[in-house]
Amino acid sequence: MVRLEQVTLRYRAGEAPALSEIDLELAPGSFTWLTGPSGAGKTSLLSLLHLSLRPSEGRLFVLGCPIHRARRRELPGLRRRIGVIFQDLRLLPHLDVLDNVALPLRIAGRREAQIDADAREILAWVGLAHRLHDRPEALSGGEQQRVALARAVIARPALLLADEPTAQLDEAQARRVIALLREMHRLGSTVVVATHSSSLPAEFPAPILRLEGGRVVAHG
Ligand SMILES: Nc1ncnc2c1ncn2[C@@H]1O[C@H](COP(=O)(O)OP(=O)(O)O)[C@@H](O)[C@H]1O
Ligand SMILES: [Mg+2]
Repeated sequence: MVRLEQVTLRYRAGEAPALSEIDLELAPGSFTWLTGPSGAGKTSLLSLLHLSLRPSEGRLFVLGCPIHRARRRELPGLRRRIGVIFQDLRLLPHLDVLDNVALPLRIAGRREAQIDADAREILAWVGLAHRLHDRPEALSGGEQQRVALARAVIARPALLLADEPTAQLDEAQARRVIALLREMHRLGSTVVVATHSSSLPAEFPAPILRLEGGRVVAHG
């Protein structure tokens, strides 16, 4: 599903790498907590996994594709099979909740009737059936987080990546978001959730991948 072999990532030549010589394998259908202090490289690793960045060195395989030597035109099709919840959400402010969530299906060129039905269904699943026609700014932080989650999962991604998806939430909201991510895992997605919290991994036990200073210091 995901394999890294001696992957190093440098944002600028000559500077210290954000990730150093990472060896890692994530099995299909696994759920992994990605932990480590701020600046450890969590977001950088997720950026490699959603193909926003390429490794500076080493080999990276995502969904069976060798990203380190893939052609640019191969990437969009692959990206459509990856769902991402960004730390800053990146909801589109001029679109309502329904259209934000429908976007991945529109990009994939699905039929409009199907898009509408799927978007409504997924929004009901995250408890937002009553907010379909609100703009993101009218929603609470927890509600916006669930819109981002709905958008990330609507195309049933094989790989689902979440970057600190509970950072802005109270405990009850955080548990709810994690429960939804675990439900996606139960339905078959490979899930990676970055968090600097230690309480969430304690509450929802799963393998932990710990980064410090751009290196893997523990995995298991
Ligand atoms: N766009 C960027 N340009 C240059 N350096 C970056 C960029 N993003 C992150 N870094 C650096 O890479 C390192 C890892 O950062 P990051 O992946 O954001 O860590 P984390 O998500 O664990 O807080 C840090 O030293 C950070 O300053
Ligand atoms: Mg980060």
